[in-house]
Amino acid sequence: MKLFNSFKVVFLISVMSITAVLPAIAGEGMWLPLLLKAFNEEEMQEMGMKMTAEDIYSVNQGSLKDAIVHFGGFCTAEVVSDQGLLLTNHHCGYSEIQSHSTLQSNYLRDGFWAGNVGEELPNPGLFARFIDRIIDVSEIVLEGTSEASTDADRQAIIKQNIAAYESTVTLGTGEGIQVKPFFNTNQYFAFVTVTYDDVRLVGAPPESIGKFGADTDNWEWPRHTGDFAFFRIYAGPNNEPAGYSPENKPYSPKHHLPISLDGVEEGDFTLIFGFPGRTNQYLPSFAIEQTLNVLNPAKIEIRDNALEVVGKAMREDPAIKLKYASKFASIANYWKKWIGESLGLEKTGAIEKKKTFESELIKRDPAAQAVLDAFQQLYAQREVSAKVTDYFSEIAGRNVEMLRVAGLAKRLVSAMENGGEEAYTGFAGRLKPYLTNLYKNYDATVDQAVFTRLMGLYQSNLDSKYVPASLSGDINGLGSRIYASSAFASGERVMELLEMSPDQAVNAMKSDPAYRFYQEMSDKYQESASSQYDEISIQLDSLQSIYMKMQMDAFPERKFWPDANSTMRVTYGQVNGYAPKDGVWYNPVTHLDGMVAKYVPDDYEFDVADKLLELYDSKDYGSYATAEGKIPVCFLGSNHTTGGNSGSPAIDAYGNLIGLNFDRVWEGTMSDINYDKSICRNIMVDARYILFIVDKFAGATHLIDEMDLVHPKAGLMNGSNKSQSIDGQSQCCDQGSACCNQSQSCCNQKKGLFKRRKKCCNTKS
Ligand code: ARG
Ligand code: ASP
Repeated sequence: MKLFNSFKVVFLISVMSITAVLPAIAGEGMWLPLLLKAFNEEEMQEMGMKMTAEDIYSVNQGSLKDAIVHFGGFCTAEVVSDQGLLLTNHHCGYSEIQSHSTLQSNYLRDGFWAGNVGEELPNPGLFARFIDRIIDVSEIVLEGTSEASTDADRQAIIKQNIAAYESTVTLGTGEGIQVKPFFNTNQYFAFVTVTYDDVRLVGAPPESIGKFGADTDNWEWPRHTGDFAFFRIYAGPNNEPAGYSPENKPYSPKHHLPISLDGVEEGDFTLIFGFPGRTNQYLPSFAIEQTLNVLNPAKIEIRDNALEVVGKAMREDPAIKLKYASKFASIANYWKKWIGESLGLEKTGAIEKKKTFESELIKRDPAAQAVLDAFQQLYAQREVSAKVTDYFSEIAGRNVEMLRVAGLAKRLVSAMENGGEEAYTGFAGRLKPYLTNLYKNYDATVDQAVFTRLMGLYQSNLDSKYVPASLSGDINGLGSRIYASSAFASGERVMELLEMSPDQAVNAMKSDPAYRFYQEMSDKYQESASSQYDEISIQLDSLQSIYMKMQMDAFPERKFWPDANSTMRVTYGQVNGYAPKDGVWYNPVTHLDGMVAKYVPDDYEFDVADKLLELYDSKDYGSYATAEGKIPVCFLGSNHTTGGNSGSPAIDAYGNLIGLNFDRVWEGTMSDINYDKSICRNIMVDARYILFIVDKFAGATHLIDEMDLVHPKAGLMNGSNKSQSIDGQSQCCDQGSACCNQSQSCCNQKKGLFKRRKKCCNTKS
């Protein structure tokens, strides 16, 4: 279909709408670091920020962005020492912590603290990726697209332009380039990255801290989770990216974040830096209606069932509990999010709000009517195939692990059939570590029970034309037969398959009963739903691109931010409570007292370690307590975040770390589709709680010594930047920077982000 032509849209070739005027609703938006100067700096400074846009993102000198990494491609982490120490969430490092755990030395249950660098644990496959620079390549990528006569033509031109551009960029060791679309393909940016592949586990608190409240408290406020873990980046002899080697050295960063000991109060400026995964803020009302009425309920029901089956098995057997802990948490996480999202969409009248916006848009640009009509039609046409797609991917592609592996085997077979032995061997090599890990935590009995339950749903909830014939009979019997004989129900047998010659392996796979069943399901899905789904999706993507530009053109007074797409973004707001319902106000800060109040001895979610209870009783809080003598645990902000922002640093007005982002509040989980400033809040662990746990609970004082602890607010107490003493002990060199102890004095910074400030130097040296 030629949507681009039919709506006669001329695409802007270069940066669009930089001329925005009205302030955005502070809080909303995930902004590109290189555009902060143009879009946000003024507002950020009005909100209390003392830095410049250049301090946050600069290609010419060290800036905050040099301390931020994409952690494994799914979370964010930040460098917090000059020796490459990384801070991220416990839940981001969960599967690594799990992979080093056994029933005897169970780091999930007891925590893990390397006593020195020699004890830090390598994690094959885990990487830390920095952004070296971001380049606006819209003009290059979109060149010639206005002459394209079809959507497919336009796609082809874009693809060619990207390939041509990428080939002109010279890359050094560990560098890569990614060109990504923004504003639904209306703009393109290139990201030059530097990836470090040797990332080791340094320390993690026990689950009773790192995952306190587990699934009950997940996505909720008030929260008391110490969701943090430490890793370290290692580099080759010249500090360059290198694969794992015992000879590698701790990485020396361009910048690392100092950590503030001064805490937060309501109204303080906060900045979150990270890699948000995906948002859909600019969809038409029809899309939201479908999510709310059809797709979320379908996915929630599937996961309700998977969780019930897995949860029961976990309660009955501690070995299963350990194996399935990470999987269960991950299934439960989005299950709960979808429930909250649907409630939030309803409660905030998201559909009505969109419809009102759409009427306003039509008033400003009558051509929008035709676009919206086309949306309505296409979404209706795609509804059933979208539901079947969710069923197929949730069940065969995710929750039944034997089928997930059979799906990978199918790709392996086609690699052989299309690319020969070389393609097969390459892919098999990449699969091995993944499958080794998967089967380490696999139990065929549990998986079979999930199979039986979910196939029952597939059969009863979908129209028969989408359901493979094998499911019309006895599903229990079918499960028993497949699991009794399939190689994919056993890790050892899968490894044996991968040891065979490619020919032999392909033959064995193709005659395997799980493979054959997967093939039958997948054929049925392809023929009945998938091609229709894909075809309409392409049309919807084109239409969304047009619609995006229409919105931007019709509302020139609004500042638009591009939907998240796993690229580096900055979001900012303030420490802020909220009203979850009429008559109730949630304070933005929680304390250890609240954690102890939730304590349920030996409970799998709310147990508290004896050592922590002792520290609470003796009030042995070091310098980490608030002025009222309490240990802070978590705090809330009005920063717009999403999945992928986990592990993102919360940064104060000066560039110091004040917290660690890990979640959002229940009433605001619809922020991916419909951000609402009044109730969307992100949840962070207070940096002082992290330090308290590391120091007092774990006794890992060598890590405390490694980090730079600062008192940014001390210099503000009498509004001066002059040296002064606090607690008669230390003096603060500068507003927003370090305070020294008695054996230190102030001297000039020579390098790094804060060159114009003073720092503390040892008087002796
Ligand atoms: N909800 C948070 C996020 O989306 C934290 C998830 C980890 N915790 C858990 N109990 N599953 O990732
Ligand atoms: N917990 C999420 C993450 O893992 C963050 C969020 O969705 O707010 O990235």
